[in-house]
Amino acid sequence: MAMSRLAFALSVSAVAGAAASARSVSAQETLGSLARKRGVYVGAAVGGAFWGGDARYRETLKREFNIMVAENAMKFDQVEPKRNQFSWKQADDLAAFAQANGMALRGHNLVWHQSSGWIEAATGMERADMLTALKTHIDSVVGRYRGRILEWDVVNEAVDDNAGLRNTFWRQRIGDDYLDSAFTWAHKADPAALLFYNDYSGEGMGGKSDRIYALMKGMKDRGVPIHGVGLQCHFAASKSFSATDIDKNMKRLGALGLRVSITELDFRVTLPADSAGLAIQRDNYALLLNACLANPNCKSFLTWGFTDAYSWVPGFFPGTGDALPFDKDYKPKPAYDGMKRVLADVTAIRNRNGPGRGALRAAGAALGGIRNALGRWLGLAD
Ligand code: XIL
Repeated sequence: MAMSRLAFALSVSAVAGAAASARSVSAQETLGSLARKRGVYVGAAVGGAFWGGDARYRETLKREFNIMVAENAMKFDQVEPKRNQFSWKQADDLAAFAQANGMALRGHNLVWHQSSGWIEAATGMERADMLTALKTHIDSVVGRYRGRILEWDVVNEAVDDNAGLRNTFWRQRIGDDYLDSAFTWAHKADPAALLFYNDYSGEGMGGKSDRIYALMKGMKDRGVPIHGVGLQCHFAASKSFSATDIDKNMKRLGALGLRVSITELDFRVTLPADSAGLAIQRDNYALLLNACLANPNCKSFLTWGFTDAYSWVPGFFPGTGDALPFDKDYKPKPAYDGMKRVLADVTAIRNRNGPGRGALRAAGAALGGIRNALGRWLGLAD
């Protein structure tokens, strides 16, 4: 889609006009304090370092964010290591920390084909027994944190990379209806929690996100209690990503009555990172946060970890890393400043309902233009 000259002028002036407010983001403000003012949640996944000796980890977490999620501590194999035997220590620690520091909590996750321990290994389990075990798991975990979880990832990654229903052991042993059952039981166990389907590679438009959309529509039509879609967003900063497509996907899911949350964001760069790579990363963080703020059904924005000292990225995508807003010494990176400036920018609020919105959309269509403009803006005080 070509962008008109007028729309481009509007988009650049919208971004440039934000520079004044951007420059004045107070050093006292954090991502979480700015998010609170906007009525949204900005947070991060919390991993094993939470229980390590480095005090900076917890300090940064509570200072900077108003929502958190367990990177692993609430997964099936962690909370139920043996059938009907639950291990709550780490999950309880995180829930208590969130509560003590006034942070919201996401739950991740109840049904996945990974990290599922004994139930995946129990290859002989038949449908009825699987359903009983799944219901017990959901009742126990969701019930324990009832009233304390804002959003639960009920089912994780149920669509495969060819846009079919992933042939997981859950599907093989129960059938396609395992999804409906999981959401129904989770809703009974905590009627106040917002229930999410969470996946990767379906953030923008395309075959996989079409399939996710169809899955969601089917559930809504059947009256299954589902409230949102989690967009994982494990992205490479060097590859182009389309904020326009993500915006479109957010809007079509919104039209179904669903929320969208950015659930596991990281923008990996090729190592060793250079300043150009970190500047692209900053612009990408800012663009994606801006897309979220421009859509009223997007209220939660979480990165998968927060310091480059602890991240799954280098292990999973060898040769890449430095994907998060804080460096290995907990120093804020350009990406952090980019996010703060977007959060502080009144333009994004205007874009929600006002005349600025069309300009934003058009700007997104010519991603190169907006990225350059945004880059100039974000680079102002560098
Ligand atoms: C990852 C964790 O970061 C790792 O520590 C763990 O070894 C494997 O799982 N999608 C998800 C997350 O939904 O749960 C995954 O987390 C990353 C991909």
